[in-house]
Amino acid sequence: MLSLLVFPALMAAASLPFSSAIPHPLRPSSASQHRELATRQDSGTGYAQPESWLTVIPNSNLGEPINVVISSQSDQAVLSDTGLQSYFSSLFFSPNNCLGISLGDQQAANLNDGQGVVNQTALYRYNFGSGTLTCQESINGGEHFRWWRQSSTGAIFIAASVEMGASKNHMIVDNG
Ligand SMILES: *[C@@H]1O[C@H](CO)[C@@H](O)[C@H](O)[C@H]1NC(C)=O
Repeated sequence: MLSLLVFPALMAAASLPFSSAIPHPLRPSSASQHRELATRQDSGTGYAQPESWLTVIPNSNLGEPINVVISSQSDQAVLSDTGLQSYFSSLFFSPNNCLGISLGDQQAANLNDGQGVVNQTALYRYNFGSGTLTCQESINGGEHFRWWRQSSTGAIFIAASVEMGASKNHMIVDNG
């Protein structure tokens, strides 16, 4: 869950200016203090059960697994549209964009939030650290994901996978 990933990163950043020889109150010194950080999640799961954990691919009865959830208990700065954008781009993912050529179909999901089956908000592809174009991933394959926001909880649902290149029709690789 993202709140677990983000918080230790903030702790690490906060402790950077201090020499390791000087005990610092923000630096966890034992495993039990690490566990205390994780209790931010204790008041709930941070999402509601979706209708299905598979996406809906138009004109087929196939779907891709929805396999990542960013808990609605994550920091609001991450859950906002601009926060998500920054988070995705910090991982070198960009919105699907290869010189205006759209490679990749629309998929939909039913998150059981009263909206029925809803098209993906966006498709993101790994940009190989090369700015914003995603041609290299579209053509050669690699990591990509589609995401949706569950309107009832604010949680973000992500169908992430590793796909083959365009010549293989973007089929998902084994264990991808
Ligand atoms: C969802 O995507 C499909 C293409 O797969 C499109 O035909 C349809 O109009 C879209 N629906 C909405 C509500 O945008």
